[in-house]
Amino acid sequence: MTGLPGQFIALEGGEGVGKSTQGRMLADALRARGLEVVTTREPGGTPGAEAIRAMLLSTEGEGWGARAEALLFAAARADHVEKLIRPAIARGAWVICDRFVDSSRAYQGGGGGLSDAEVLDLHRIGSGGLLPDLTVLLTVPPEVSAQRLALRDGGTGDRIESRGAAYHARVAEAFRSFAVQAPDRFAEIDAVGSPADVHSRIMARLAGLLP
Ligand code: TYD
Repeated sequence: MTGLPGQFIALEGGEGVGKSTQGRMLADALRARGLEVVTTREPGGTPGAEAIRAMLLSTEGEGWGARAEALLFAAARADHVEKLIRPAIARGAWVICDRFVDSSRAYQGGGGGLSDAEVLDLHRIGSGGLLPDLTVLLTVPPEVSAQRLALRDGGTGDRIESRGAAYHARVAEAFRSFAVQAPDRFAEIDAVGSPADVHSRIMARLAGLLP
């Protein structure tokens, strides 16, 4: 728990698991209950963080080394947490964030080779170590996410999406291990099925947090 009045929910998972759709459906369901909901995403969410996003995901130039990349994600997050996420939680809003620090742990850590302690150090320095109240981890078998990705953008992606299958397998494995290590903070949700089915699974897991 953040110890603050609002709730902070992060949606996580590999590419093509349906996070954006589920984020929208969750936001609608919470608003229908009369809650103030702020939806946002990472990298991004504030003008400064969106500028860093463009630098991170652009396919032009030679790209970033693993450490520079991790620092840039942490910098974008610091701006986002300070200017948007903490103020929203403090006034009692529910924040639904498409990806957060567990993506850095999975991609820059599991995929890119930084240690989990290093990624968490950057997060402590940048964002005071803020963690979501609940991280909804959407999981699908690798062949399902490959299919969904191909439908979405024909298989070409941004700089990170287009890394090879081995990278994305390490990312998926890292996410899975975080959920096992911290079952109270993670809700691992089977994301196979219709959007409505997956949404119902998420709402069932959120029941304990709802007012
Ligand atoms: P995005 O288009 O938002 O991807 P998706 O639709 O799959 O969520 O691009 C974000 C990309 O950045 C995605 O490939 C995951 C990656 N990422 C990291 O590597 N580290 C991070 O900390 C975050 C937030 C995202």
